[in-house]
Amino acid sequence: MFKIDDVVKRGVRAVTISASLLALAACQDDAVSQSERDETAVTRAQTQFSQRVDGLLAEMTLEEKLGQLHQAAGGRSRNLNSRLTPEELDRVRAGAVGSYLHVAGAQPLAELQRVAVEESRLGIPLLFAMDVVHGYRTIFPVPIAMASTWDETDWQRAARISAEEASAAGLHWTFAPMIDIGRDPRWGRIVEGAGSDPYLGSRMAVAQVRGYQGESLAAGDTLLATAKHFGAYGVPTGGRDYGTAEIGERSLYEAYLPPFYAATRAGAGSMMTAFNDIDGVPSTSNEALIDGTLRARWAFDGLIVSDWNAIAELMNHGVAETRAAAGALALQAGVDMDMTSGIFVEELRQAIDADPALEADLDLAVGRILTAKERLGLFDDPMVYHQVQREQAELLAADHREAARAIAARSVVLLKNENAALPLELSEGRVAVIGALAADASTQLGSWRAQGRPEDVVSLLDGLREGAPEGVEIVYAAGADPLSDDLSGLEEAAALARSADRVVLVVGENFDMSGEARSRSDLFLPDSQRALASAILDTGQPVSVILVTGRPLAIPDIAARADAVLNAWMLGVEAGPALADIIYGETSPAGRLPVSFPRSTGAAPFTYSEYPGGRPADPDLARDTNRYMDQPITPLYGFGHGLSYSTFDYGALSGGVVQGEIRLAVDVTNSGDRAADEVVQLYMRDPVASVARPRIELRGFRRISLEPGASTTVHFTLSPAQAAVFQSPGVWQVEPGQLVFHVGGSSLDLASSVEVTIEDGFISDVPAAAIATRGETE
Ligand code: NOJ
Repeated sequence: MFKIDDVVKRGVRAVTISASLLALAACQDDAVSQSERDETAVTRAQTQFSQRVDGLLAEMTLEEKLGQLHQAAGGRSRNLNSRLTPEELDRVRAGAVGSYLHVAGAQPLAELQRVAVEESRLGIPLLFAMDVVHGYRTIFPVPIAMASTWDETDWQRAARISAEEASAAGLHWTFAPMIDIGRDPRWGRIVEGAGSDPYLGSRMAVAQVRGYQGESLAAGDTLLATAKHFGAYGVPTGGRDYGTAEIGERSLYEAYLPPFYAATRAGAGSMMTAFNDIDGVPSTSNEALIDGTLRARWAFDGLIVSDWNAIAELMNHGVAETRAAAGALALQAGVDMDMTSGIFVEELRQAIDADPALEADLDLAVGRILTAKERLGLFDDPMVYHQVQREQAELLAADHREAARAIAARSVVLLKNENAALPLELSEGRVAVIGALAADASTQLGSWRAQGRPEDVVSLLDGLREGAPEGVEIVYAAGADPLSDDLSGLEEAAALARSADRVVLVVGENFDMSGEARSRSDLFLPDSQRALASAILDTGQPVSVILVTGRPLAIPDIAARADAVLNAWMLGVEAGPALADIIYGETSPAGRLPVSFPRSTGAAPFTYSEYPGGRPADPDLARDTNRYMDQPITPLYGFGHGLSYSTFDYGALSGGVVQGEIRLAVDVTNSGDRAADEVVQLYMRDPVASVARPRIELRGFRRISLEPGASTTVHFTLSPAQAAVFQSPGVWQVEPGQLVFHVGGSSLDLASSVEVTIEDGFISDVPAAAIATRGETE
């Protein structure tokens, strides 16, 4: 897209941009006036549809077109299909619905699809959608736990299995992956994403898109993926869900948008706009971002759906006075499908009467929706998703459960381990498992559980019981439940702890304390859980804490007093067996934090990759620096942290620029006495640039397995474009000079570094954090 030229820009050899990009650069402001629309808007002339889609567009009435834009709720997320009444079938016959969400089941949806295909005038098939976020019936760990594997092949596998199950149950479309970068644990939806880092988030986004969409969307066992929530949904003010993102343009493009770029390149078939606004511009009506950045600059060619009722909520934002005006704004911005507000199907006609130019936008939206249906093969074989036998065979299949167990064990993060507390290698004795969460099967399903059922889950308690070595007795007391203030069970729990040789204390949050609209102002454990932890720690027994949570929690007391802390997140249907594999030492833990754990609520939001500032934090309180008076600036457990039952030694990081690539290598040795995985992490620092650069930024990682005593060489190959600095949308500049790379086992534990010199600066059009590093072992 770019032609190299000797144009000098800000002292750096730069490139000239092709004419179309210059036109786009002229309209990069987020606030686009009507007169600028022609430049930002994606036009019909630029968009090609297939003959079939063009043919349908030519035949459709205005009503039929508006109908395609409407996504109706076929039920509620916990009460699927409940709105699929006989009257609803009439709406399908009339062509007044394009898609349903919160529906499922090969057989119930077959009838609906049959009516659409056989009894509506043009026979256009329906799109059936659901939030299949971390599994359909076989529920995998919650997304933040999946990200803790630091191995995208795990997530790709989980997404593939989820697609196989959901597509067998009549579904075509999932509202996943959720790829919002989250740095504020108060925000309940941090559980749904891959954490705080745009590089990790981009790689995890690609893996999920590949897993859901497989090799071909028409294969019949794949789902159209939805990268969501486009914009900057993960950074709401105060951590309160749906709130404004008050961020600068550089943060938007460097930190929050890269996963969306990566998902686009991976071929994500759809995106969902965010509920919130960025500096006052709601993402659902942000034409510069949707049509400008996503479609024109990035060439995203998929379908864009609003979030639930978000088009109507443009009135609450205060950018539209009427429903018709809200509809017009969203359509012009580039939103194709209206999730449930009904405005597109009910009020858009009025808007089009007032402004006939909207008809061109309408055709584009309809064309994109029909194209999604075509890509899914629905025009050729709409019934392929409705084979009841396949549904029965797929759901909760034995190999799906096996994968869920392995991936869950790979998600667990060992935060602390002293006095050889873990693994529990007892050949006899009594282990007290304490905490209501240990027996709470439902919580292990987390938020967005699709068709997951508590009765499918092996609880932590059952897993620890079943996995216990012969001669080891497991005793249990609930102590206290996170949802209740009842502390009457504490005494009995403490007595049981005293009677045991070892204590496994399970504390944390119930599943309903994280997720959508589940923001908390307090990051400490719920009160009853703190009380339970104190009571058990006060016994003086050796305590290993299992943390059950959907968000990073502030656990200073536990961190100080427990022998071991194992962060289990919420692990899905195989939670118990997976935890048992770790606790009893079958597998060494190797999960790593995708987001830091704070020392207190006041430390949020936080990122390891902050700018250094002019007065970097200095613990010396006599100096005025960028720190708190009452606690260290460092997190309790940093990004990338996670211990192992083994130990690893790093050699010197070496390498440099070879044939335009940055090639680095490091030797890693398992110096302990157990086979274990290590996550080798590569960070980059640009010490002097035209603008401040993050202290360090993740630019590569590789999870490796090594036998005791074994070594390997890990090679990382980067493009200089991975060091590019955002200039303006679509223009990223690599500045000549020094880059420093660090390698180690966590952002706070960097073992070795090397300096690399970039001779020439050049311009790229790609968000730097979205470019994957090649990582190989020898
Ligand atoms: C609202 C949520 O924000 C979104 O993530 C989800 O996909 C829709 N509801 C549909 O359930």
